[in-house]
Amino acid sequence: MKNNILLNIIIIVLLASCNNMNDNETIIHRPTKTYLEESHSYAQPNDAVTTHLDLDINVDFETQVISGTATYNIVNNGSEQIILDSKFLEIESVTANGVATTFKLGEMDATLGQPLTIAIKKDTKQIAITYSTTAKTEALQWLTAQQTADKTNPFLFTQGQAILTRTWIPIQDSPQIRITYDATVKVPEQLMAVMSAENPKAKNENGIYNFKMEQPIPAYLIALAVGDIKYKSISDRTGVYAEKSMLDKVHEEFSDMEKMVVAAENLYGAYDWDQFDVIVLPPSFPFGGMENPRLTFATPTVIAGDKSLTSLVAHELAHSWSGNLVTNATWNDFWLNEGFTVYFEIRIMEALYGKDRANMLALIGRQDLEDELEALSDLPNDTKLKLDLKGRNPDDGMNSIAYDKGYLFLRTLEEKVGRDHIDAFLKSYFKKNAFSTTNTEDFIVYLNENLLDKNNITFNTEEWIYQPGIPDNAAVIESDAFSNAENTLELFLKTNKIDTAVTQNWTPQEWVHFVRNFPPGITLEQMKQLDDTFDFTNSSNSYISMVWFEQSILNGYDGNNVDSKISEFLNTVGRRWYVTTLFNAFAKADRIDEALEIYKTARGNYHSVTANTVDGILGL
Ligand code: BES
Ligand code: ZN
Repeated sequence: MKNNILLNIIIIVLLASCNNMNDNETIIHRPTKTYLEESHSYAQPNDAVTTHLDLDINVDFETQVISGTATYNIVNNGSEQIILDSKFLEIESVTANGVATTFKLGEMDATLGQPLTIAIKKDTKQIAITYSTTAKTEALQWLTAQQTADKTNPFLFTQGQAILTRTWIPIQDSPQIRITYDATVKVPEQLMAVMSAENPKAKNENGIYNFKMEQPIPAYLIALAVGDIKYKSISDRTGVYAEKSMLDKVHEEFSDMEKMVVAAENLYGAYDWDQFDVIVLPPSFPFGGMENPRLTFATPTVIAGDKSLTSLVAHELAHSWSGNLVTNATWNDFWLNEGFTVYFEIRIMEALYGKDRANMLALIGRQDLEDELEALSDLPNDTKLKLDLKGRNPDDGMNSIAYDKGYLFLRTLEEKVGRDHIDAFLKSYFKKNAFSTTNTEDFIVYLNENLLDKNNITFNTEEWIYQPGIPDNAAVIESDAFSNAENTLELFLKTNKIDTAVTQNWTPQEWVHFVRNFPPGITLEQMKQLDDTFDFTNSSNSYISMVWFEQSILNGYDGNNVDSKISEFLNTVGRRWYVTTLFNAFAKADRIDEALEIYKTARGNYHSVTANTVDGILGL
């Protein structure tokens, strides 16, 4: 695989030097690959494409501005311009081969931002853009000391996926375009910077950090975090970053990380990114996790104290293959990233902790999928795996369909062809497309050639991918533990008695399943009885808290001060999935006024992706 990169680099260098030698000749240099039409980037990579970024920036917490220069190596296929994506950036000046050149920021689109068109010549090999971010940047969240765990220093993190990197770096922001990068980042001396790259393991004295990412990655995977953080290793290639007060807890929680990497490698081939670290961010981080290469970003809400929520690490690790190594060509193919990742995540969890745990995870996803299908009942097109997000925000495709319908497709396929076959197929798929992109259509061709036709198997692939809803042949997922939780709930609802000997050894997943399946008719007395027995309102597991709070909101339960707990939760946690579940519950229960009251103070804590989604739910 490394050889492939090397070969690409050699070809690019050769092409670039050919350009140089043949300045006045009419040889047309084709780019090394043909890029598909893509509706979420202004870049025209078939004309001129960036191949390497050298980023030199200063991170100023006082003004909350990142400023500096992004220098790119480019391959010009004979074009007089190169187009980058830019949103809410101030562009100060641009050079081409070191000489000032003209540039133009085009019309602003609310989702896509602006095309940044730069004049270049046939022999232009390098462009440099001097710029700064503005208060409107969507990728960055600047946190005060109060919003961190240690409460002594400010913090900054970026979130690039899907199309937010263009709000902190002017860049060709398409998943099809891969670049390597170097960066020099200057931060306040008491803080440390880390990126999706080769990282420092300790703070230095001058606050200047140098980074290198030698494997080519798409723009959405460029990431930066700056804070008062420390590193603790787990193995020679895995470890954790966190604020001081969290470091030991995080280290303990994720102590199986090396085992996860080994399990993943045993399934689908060598880990190609050398290092796998996780940084636990302050609670406003909008996602559970983000698979930034070499350094996954994670929410502190998974630090439950009992490793019960670490499938998140398996998930982000799995993206090192599905997503980071083999990338969805466009956001319409997002299911290729997430569906494959959920499948891989559950296989890793099975390898480490057994089939019961894996099936519980699969079944939670199955229920999420049913809920999503119901929520999208008026939008059947959005329940297809292959989406058409042209003219929409790619964020619209980030729902349970890509994840859980994608998973169910692969699980059903696995049951049809057998594990040996699907594993060999996936391994070869990752190998063939490593450090490249693929789209749904190419996947189908590859699937037919290498798995189905080869083994004389017929499968309704097209129905799964291009039709709404769930095909009839979907695998049936079962879990004895969950059936038991359902029976226990049913018995309680009938008798108002619950045998704590039965629930004694339940995992958080069983509790989640139990709570989220309360029927609409559950009484407030029953909720109070359960709360008094199991203390759900004060659960230390964020997932149980979330589903319990959802039920409390939906059913109007206000015992044991749960309302103030909900308000506190929404004022600290910014994980979009949790937050939107609770605000949706307020909306469903016709309690918008209470939600607005909480949101008044909570919104300021949220990253833009969470705030934008909640604005939508509350009709703001
Ligand atoms: N890559 C996603 C997060 C993402 C998707 C960010 C689309 C922006 C746009 C990440 O891998 C993910 O799926 N996170 C999940 C974790 C989970 C399914 C275990 C999350 O944040 O909840
Ligand atoms: Zn994911």
